[in-house]
Amino acid sequence: MAVTPLAIKYRPKSFEDLSEQESIVSILTNQVETKTFQHAYLFIGSAGVGKTTSARIFANMINDGKGRPIEVDAASNSGVDNIRNNIIDDSKKKSLDSEYKIFIIDECHSLSNSAWQALLKLLEESPKYSIFILCTTNPEKIPATIISRVQQFKFNRISNDGIKSRLVDIYDKEKEEDSEITVSDEALDYISKLARGGLRTAITNLDKCLSFSKSVDLDVVINVIDTVNYDTFFSFTEKLINKDKDCINTINNLYNSGKDLKQFNLDYMKFLLDVMSYIIFNNIDSTDFPKDNNVISKLDKFKDKEEIILNIIRVVKDLNYEARFNSDLKTLFSITYLLYCGE
Ligand SMILES: Nc1ncnc2c1ncn2[C@@H]1O[C@H](COP(=O)(O)OP(=O)(O)OP(=O)(O)O)[C@@H](O)[C@H]1O
Ligand SMILES: [Mg+2]
Repeated sequence: MAVTPLAIKYRPKSFEDLSEQESIVSILTNQVETKTFQHAYLFIGSAGVGKTTSARIFANMINDGKGRPIEVDAASNSGVDNIRNNIIDDSKKKSLDSEYKIFIIDECHSLSNSAWQALLKLLEESPKYSIFILCTTNPEKIPATIISRVQQFKFNRISNDGIKSRLVDIYDKEKEEDSEITVSDEALDYISKLARGGLRTAITNLDKCLSFSKSVDLDVVINVIDTVNYDTFFSFTEKLINKDKDCINTINNLYNSGKDLKQFNLDYMKFLLDVMSYIIFNNIDSTDFPKDNNVISKLDKFKDKEEIILNIIRVVKDLNYEARFNSDLKTLFSITYLLYCGE
């Protein structure tokens, strides 16, 4: 039997169980208490921060647990027909089993132009007992005419602490079901950091690690999750600090192993920023690095190299710009770093 993914198993059923997003929860809860609903809502925010979950909880509260909201996934039904058939006609009929008919239109940025027009008409007519909750990660794709007719809520990324505490809760519950599993504190820390505010990403990664091993430590996380290989960045940086022209070998190896050099450059910028954060704040928690002694000792070696690292950052930043107009990235990268080493 297929197992339920942890992210679905632990989807909150009430606002009490939702991590963070406190101000949104308090406004929506107040609307339920005072029965002052809007006709249409727009939930905006990055992936996996609780938009769909909150839409379902809110819909359930509006209808006092009766009936079910009608969910439309615009990403898979972006045609106008679907909106017309499923929503326009439907929204004019009063719900039989609940006070309001509630439509959750998920990933609404994928709706076609004509679907938006149809929806707009509907929002203008405002069938009395219908409520629309639109969710999106891309608000810039929503027509201004729609934006002006909805109440917007911006969902924040979840803090690292918020993610970690949710992971700890999930881990505790899973451990009650299977006492053999263990996940180290460092592993939970690192999974939280890697998620960059997306709670679903964090839970999915924990799930992946647990299906790889019942005993998850930092090494398992680094192995299982497709993280950047820090070793390459550390040795590349050491070469650049020493102005060692052998650095073009790294570019060669990356190219030959099929790595996308543009992406490498972006990841390397992020790496250097984290190195600088470590030097400035002298604290591994201010970075996305894992709390690993090996990593810390390598970082400590950069502590008196601030000026040089800033120079490298300038080169990498310019390279990021130039890469946009150049099709032979291997040559561009090799020449840029050779020139840097020859300065
Ligand atoms: N704020 C949160 N509190 C608790 N769990 C959360 C929260 N946000 C996300 N999750 C977890 O992540 C899963 C996905 O959340 P949800 O579907 O609400 O994300 P979303 O914001 O709609 O993302 P997407 O933009 O990708 O659709 C949930 O099932 C839950 O396990
Ligand atoms: Mg969603």
